[in-house]
Amino acid sequence: MKFFIDTANLDEIREAYDLGVLDGVTTNPSLMAKEGISGDERVKAHYKAICDIVDDNVSAEVIATDFEGMIREGKELAKIDDKIVVKIPMIKDGVKAIKKFHSEGIRTNCTLIFGPGQALVAAKAGATYVSPFVGRLDDISYDGLELIDQIVQIYQNYGYATQVLAASIRHTMHLIKCAEIGADVATCPLKVITGLLKHPLTDSGLATFLADHAKAAGK
Ligand code: E4P
Repeated sequence: MKFFIDTANLDEIREAYDLGVLDGVTTNPSLMAKEGISGDERVKAHYKAICDIVDDNVSAEVIATDFEGMIREGKELAKIDDKIVVKIPMIKDGVKAIKKFHSEGIRTNCTLIFGPGQALVAAKAGATYVSPFVGRLDDISYDGLELIDQIVQIYQNYGYATQVLAASIRHTMHLIKCAEIGADVATCPLKVITGLLKHPLTDSGLATFLADHAKAAGK
């Protein structure tokens, strides 16, 4: 399973990368705005800074919602670095743009997926990744994890190469359940990745080992 970090914050990306288990980064316009990044040149420079930290898979989202605009913007984003994956919303022109980028060898991440039919269309268009939003479905009393299960099943049925990138992951159990289901990737905040390390019995067990060692050494 690949771990992506869902942030545009460079310090958090560095911290996750330094842990040695990070496979990529997802951003969206809200996350970029949270870091105070705006204006074409600053946005591109920020994506470049992210690419310089990680090994691959930096999702950069287009703002345009028309086909020509998405193609123009996506090509500009793809030029920043080979690590860029162009993030395209699940709308009609977005599907057409994914198809075009696929034919040109540009990787895409189809975002804002809330239903299995949307994921099926994105795979048929040749998306590299689809991003179903688990937490946002849970927020409105739908089962986000069930959607992951449905998409994984559909892709297996037909052997689609599109990877299921579980997004809007809010806590460690979301991530663990996605791993059980077989999602290819989970993108989540830093606290979810670091949260996986924690167990109170690990902490108390380590404390006991160190105390016993000190006692035996006469300290
Ligand atoms: C990532 O690709 C998504 O934009 C992100 O996971 C959405 O997460 P949120 O629902 O916590 O905003």
